[in-house]
Amino acid sequence: MKVDVLLGLQWGDEGKGKIVDVLTPQYDIIARFQGGPNAGHTLEFNGIKHVLHTIPSGIFRDDVVNLVGNGVVIDPVVFQKELEKLAPFNIDFKKRLLLSKKAHLILPTHRLLDAASEAAKGKNKIGSTLKGIGPTYMDKTGRNGLRVGDIFMSNFQEKYDALVEKHVGMLNHYDGFEYDLSELEAPFMEGIEVLKGLTAVDSEQYLNEAFKAGKRVLAEGAQGTMLDIDFGTYPFVTSSNTVTAGTCTGLGVAPTKIGNVIGIFKAYCTRVGSGPFPTELNDEVGELIRQEGREFGATTGRPRRCGWVDLPQMKYAIMINGVTELSMMKADVLSCFEKIKVCTHYIIDGERVDYFPFDVDGINLTPVYEEIEGWNCDLTQLTSYDDAPQALKNYVSYLERNLEVPITVVSVGPDRTQTLSNKK
Ligand code: GDP
Ligand code: IMO
Ligand code: MG
Repeated sequence: MKVDVLLGLQWGDEGKGKIVDVLTPQYDIIARFQGGPNAGHTLEFNGIKHVLHTIPSGIFRDDVVNLVGNGVVIDPVVFQKELEKLAPFNIDFKKRLLLSKKAHLILPTHRLLDAASEAAKGKNKIGSTLKGIGPTYMDKTGRNGLRVGDIFMSNFQEKYDALVEKHVGMLNHYDGFEYDLSELEAPFMEGIEVLKGLTAVDSEQYLNEAFKAGKRVLAEGAQGTMLDIDFGTYPFVTSSNTVTAGTCTGLGVAPTKIGNVIGIFKAYCTRVGSGPFPTELNDEVGELIRQEGREFGATTGRPRRCGWVDLPQMKYAIMINGVTELSMMKADVLSCFEKIKVCTHYIIDGERVDYFPFDVDGINLTPVYEEIEGWNCDLTQLTSYDDAPQALKNYVSYLERNLEVPITVVSVGPDRTQTLSNKK
């Protein structure tokens, strides 16, 4: 068996959590391969909304194993809170939630370093979620990090103290940055005890044996392609590989084991935090999308920046990820528009450009739009794609033609049930 991959094609928050939850009955294992509590994945069913940060979005379905891979960074404090929120659902975590021993830990001092570094950047700040993501991945690549497997060792406290000492030295370089570490350490150590009570495994071994046994695996991406450390709008990115290749390194899966790649995008586009966004709408249209789409961050509550779909950006993301099928999310949000715009190419210094260039920030870039007829009616009650208005079908066909990948799912509301299949 192969691992299917589901990931975001824009700047995150495309609706990954919802679609993973919808697809989970087709799989035996759902595995997160990168990111950490900077993610906020929302699921809605039976009138209840759930937001997950580190725990994979298959956790609400029976008989499915949820695995937090080696590429993920775990904050024991956030993790404990997530588990507490899930307590009413009587989930057997010991059996259904596995942690990679190689996943790195976010320490309280990583969060402090994140905050100090952002504050020092002033107006150039990345707009980080301040969850300690960057400093934790820096310690991973700097070969200083602590991993889940370390918490079971007798010298864990010693290793922790040595790393904290290093961090305190670094924090001293940030003039005027005040903090109180003592009040952060008790909840961290409490979280470590909670992690010890869960099941830590050699997840690469576990997964590859699962393939052999015919188990079906879905890898759940976090963030989005344009936030990828290599291929995103650097430096306004996160610190991990959010693209398909991240599945290989973040789970220990060989490239030859990658199956379908499901790319998720909104029928428009959003971004939270700083950085370039060619089709951003700083006007009443952008504001209307934000209100209709309730575009406020699931992790930080910050308003999301809104704009139209950007074909050069989407083609770039499809190319990097090898996307085999697309899910178009939040079509219902555009119901208020008589006309919808799609960016077909850019004009840069008077020249037509239809790919995503090295740096779109601070250059003379004008997005060129094609106007498309909107459907201008409620979609939220639809139960079959066949019954969808012709204008919506035309929009889907237009995107499929230009992106050269089939759109197999159209989402028309946040609930599990508001999902239309368009598999031919
Ligand atoms: P993720 O990070 O990719 O999992 O996405 P988020 O959960 O951060 O953001 C997506 C938001 O859109 C959540 O509030 C979802 O409940 C909501 N959502 C998902 N699909 C749809 C949809 O088709 N229509 C509407 N109106 N909301 C949706
Ligand atoms: P999900 O998985 C949207 C953004 C932050 C910031 C940049 C770096 O819910 O789609 P970081 O905390 O990683 O140092 O922040 O990346 N960002 C996200 N934006 N959705 C996310 O995750 C994000 N995770 C990080 O806003 O601009
Ligand atoms: Mg999100």
